Amino acid sequence: MKINDTDIEKSLQGLESRRELWAKFIAIQRTRFMAEVGVWKGDFAAEILMDGVDIEIYYMIDPWANLTDWNKPFNVESEVFNEIYKEMDSKTAFAANKRRILRGRTKEVVGLIENSSLDFAYIDGDHTLRGITVDLIKIWPKIKSGGFIGGDDFTTTPWQHDVKYEPTLVFPFSVYFAEAMNVPITALEHGQFLIQKDECSGFSFNDTTGLYGNLSLNSLLRH
Ligand SMILES: C[S@@+](CC[C@H](N)C(=O)[O-])C[C@H]1O[C@@H](n2cnc3c(N)ncnc32)[C@H](O)[C@@H]1O
Repeated sequence: MKINDTDIEKSLQGLESRRELWAKFIAIQRTRFMAEVGVWKGDFAAEILMDGVDIEIYYMIDPWANLTDWNKPFNVESEVFNEIYKEMDSKTAFAANKRRILRGRTKEVVGLIENSSLDFAYIDGDHTLRGITVDLIKIWPKIKSGGFIGGDDFTTTPWQHDVKYEPTLVFPFSVYFAEAMNVPITALEHGQFLIQKDECSGFSFNDTTGLYGNLSLNSLLRH
């Protein structure tokens, strides 16, 4: 499966939500081994595990703990995170034989995943420049040749949350990352991105939404 196949692009358009989009992608790709970075209450994981008939292993990476160096609204108190963990545990218990809960930051637990073993990783954790940098670099070797990295919060503005929070820089950093790896990246609806680990295709940025213009930080940070 190639990221730039127009039939695939079309089939990922016009869907109601990001969950529907990724459920469809996972069905098309026939994903067997995947990871989610940033799991929160497990709602996304539960839906994907419910629909993804081919999924054999689903790694769930999240510290479920307050992080003193993460200035984002999802960084709640550790007691609250303990309740969120329990919620995730019960929501995904039906897939206990497939899920692998890795409790820790990406950089702390990613070593438990074999290199070149994942068909797909979905990144939805720490969306700051530091967070997306660490996540993409650490997850990359875990992806099989031809496999994919998708992600959330590919926002057109870094000021997704109040300005008192650290800016969200999934966009444009993921595009710079794809350029560095010389692979294609596509912008999808619902603020999603998709990178394919396909060095033969070379770098391209394909914006199926028409929303992403300027890759320069200078103009982005003013909006
Ligand atoms: C937006 S929520 C995830 C939502 C979830 N993917 C969903 O769709 O339901 C972000 C999560 O990222 C986690 N997180 C923050 N920093 C992280 C890091 N360095 N590594 C892994 N997860 C992280 C937080 O604990 C939080 O649960």
